[in-house]
Amino acid sequence: MNILGIETSCDETAAAVVRDGREVLSNVVYTQIPLHQPYGGVVPEIASRAHVEKISQVVGEAISQFKQLNNQTIDAVAVTYGPGLSPALIVGLNAAKGLAKALDVPLIGINHIEAHLHSPFLFDPADRKGFQISDFRFQIGDGDFQIGDGDFRIEDCTPALGLAISGGNTMWVDMPEYGKYEVIGETLDDAAGEAFDKAAKLLGLGYPGGLKMDRIASAWMAEARSEVRGQRSDDLIPFPKGRPRDGVTALAGLPAELCVSFSGLKTALLRYAQQHPDLAGSTESARDFGGYEVTPHVAQVVASYQEAIVQAVADRTRTALKRKRYKAFILGGGVSLNSRIRAVLTEVAKDAGVPLLMAKPKYTGDNGAMIAGLAYYRRNHVEDAMTLDVNPCLEVGK
Ligand code: KG4
Repeated sequence: MNILGIETSCDETAAAVVRDGREVLSNVVYTQIPLHQPYGGVVPEIASRAHVEKISQVVGEAISQFKQLNNQTIDAVAVTYGPGLSPALIVGLNAAKGLAKALDVPLIGINHIEAHLHSPFLFDPADRKGFQISDFRFQIGDGDFQIGDGDFRIEDCTPALGLAISGGNTMWVDMPEYGKYEVIGETLDDAAGEAFDKAAKLLGLGYPGGLKMDRIASAWMAEARSEVRGQRSDDLIPFPKGRPRDGVTALAGLPAELCVSFSGLKTALLRYAQQHPDLAGSTESARDFGGYEVTPHVAQVVASYQEAIVQAVADRTRTALKRKRYKAFILGGGVSLNSRIRAVLTEVAKDAGVPLLMAKPKYTGDNGAMIAGLAYYRRNHVEDAMTLDVNPCLEVGK
């Protein structure tokens, strides 16, 4: 079954065709980052207008790439209808409605966060070099890991713990079976990606900041580990790790030990920057850290701030993995590209004896393939194409 997936929940206009939920036959992503950069964040009105301008081209490209590969037909159209920015979601939903009507195929509405948790199951046939789906191996850390005995089925991964970590969400999800979701922990304020982006803005590193901070931090840590120029890895600044008090109910009945809060961390960074004016001012000692010219002090702050986020996320994940016997730990979302998060969560999963399923880098950010992929497993939830509406606050598992 070939499903066309459309995604416009934030600042990526994306479309893809996926066969039987996992095999990505085409995948087109147009990112609006340069349009939002001058404002230091996503401007909904600009996002919406850019989606309108690009949607036909992106969807057309995804369909024509698919048609070049084989001459099959599209059997259904899937679309993100929430959560996300309302004016942005509307563009994708209307395009999907029109296409579903024109092609006379069913329309499947998809939750964006649930789709991030499907992204580790996607593969590009070009990367698989002739493997059959039953031979497909998940990566765990630096080795291969296969669930089942050569007879892999997605359902064999459950019960699973999911962590969706992106610019808009940081959420731990219990998945008792595939397609069933219960939120067990989440951020009380900013998502991890937002915490990265806001810190980058404060440090003058531009928007979006996650990838830059990742690269700067890796370079600083590498130097510090080998004690180059007197920098030491135990010189990390002790920023707060965002842990609400244990035993209290943090949010909507969720246990505090499975929730994070990054507002204290942001305030701590602001205070630190106010006390150290050289962070913003001096560029005298600036040199290359991971491809960016910053001072060693800025790089140290970046590495310390990133470590606070990573350790907060690792701590809650450890707790969640202890609460129940899981067959897999599923990691998705833009921030799951972070090299330190990938490394630390690999260790956490190994210690818990639970296979970690991570999205391939090209499927970590927003994309249409995760929408089309998950839709295959929700193909019985067909919407009436004319009545489906966007839901910017759509909850996971609802
Ligand atoms: O999944 P995504 O494309 O959008 C949402 O669904 O929110 O994630 C975008 C977020 C941004 O906040 C960006 O700074 C962050 O992911 N990000 C990273 C890295 N790459 C992207 N954060 C930390 N480390 C990275 N390597």
